[in-house]
Amino acid sequence: MLDRLETIRKEALDAINKAKDSSREAIEALRVRFTGRKGELTNILKSIGSLPPDQRPKVGQLANRYKNEIETAIKEALEKFDQKNSEETCIAGLDPTLPGRRLPYGRLHPVTQVMDEICAIFSRMGFSVAQGPEVELDFYNFEALNIPPDHPARDMQDTFYIDDKVLLRTHTSPIQIRTMEKLEPPLRIIAPGKVYRCDSDVTHTPMFHQVEGLMVDTRVSFADLKGILTHFIHQIFSDRTGVRFRPSFFPFTEPSAEVDIQCVICGGSGCRVCSHTGWLEVLGAGLVNPAVFRHVGYDTERFSGFAFGLGIERITMLKYGIDDLRLFFDNDLRFLTQF
Ligand code: PHE
Repeated sequence: MLDRLETIRKEALDAINKAKDSSREAIEALRVRFTGRKGELTNILKSIGSLPPDQRPKVGQLANRYKNEIETAIKEALEKFDQKNSEETCIAGLDPTLPGRRLPYGRLHPVTQVMDEICAIFSRMGFSVAQGPEVELDFYNFEALNIPPDHPARDMQDTFYIDDKVLLRTHTSPIQIRTMEKLEPPLRIIAPGKVYRCDSDVTHTPMFHQVEGLMVDTRVSFADLKGILTHFIHQIFSDRTGVRFRPSFFPFTEPSAEVDIQCVICGGSGCRVCSHTGWLEVLGAGLVNPAVFRHVGYDTERFSGFAFGLGIERITMLKYGIDDLRLFFDNDLRFLTQF
């Protein structure tokens, strides 16, 4: 019996050695042949009971030792086989059975999305998009817009000055002037872009986005302004959103108005967001002041126009119910991927 055990051990180790490079199945088959349920070694272990009692311990011990040895050899052979195989696949550089790797999709920032939506609404009404520089001359940002030298907006506290004459634009209104210098009426433009103000707290960031609108033609009236802005608000919020025009003042428009919408949070009944007034201010507007037309050489007898400006972050916050302005600038993907 002991001889038989030695023979099995030798045969098994030889066979494993031979099979180790051929295939996984060949190695697995040896497990079945020697240590499987009806394997050669297993059969010997099963038959121990029928041996004379004095032989049993010796045969049992040896059979178990060889069984372990053979199983370990098989396990190692399988591991080596798998390792070698995957190395070869990597070297070949291609495993067509692997699933493809998806690239994560990026998406547009909510402010960009709303900016695009605003541009789309106005382009359907015949407005084209104009642009202007963010580093602007005092002349375009203030003087040509009829903002006098002692106006509070000109204070260093509000405006980032680069030198006496150059600054970061504080609104998109200078694009009105630049457009009118280049084009003759009739014209309809909107101008989206970044603006800068020396201001930073929970509700103000030093950079934010505005959209400017300007329409000039013969016989443009306040009724046109009201109609177009009301249509815009109904498009960007909802048909049922209430709109009201409140008298206001801007040096470059006369008369001027601020436009409020019914609070999108409480529907007008009054809440914390609208300070219990039921209304939220969303834009500034008015008929172009003839003093502005004179700066660009437009005939104030023949032409009239309206202008408006709105803050895109504010519209975006109201549209999506975002309550913290700073979220727009944190670049936290958990926030940005929701839009
Ligand atoms: N430029 C103004 C602001 O930033 C908004 C505005 C634009 C008002 C056009 C009237 C006309 O507050």
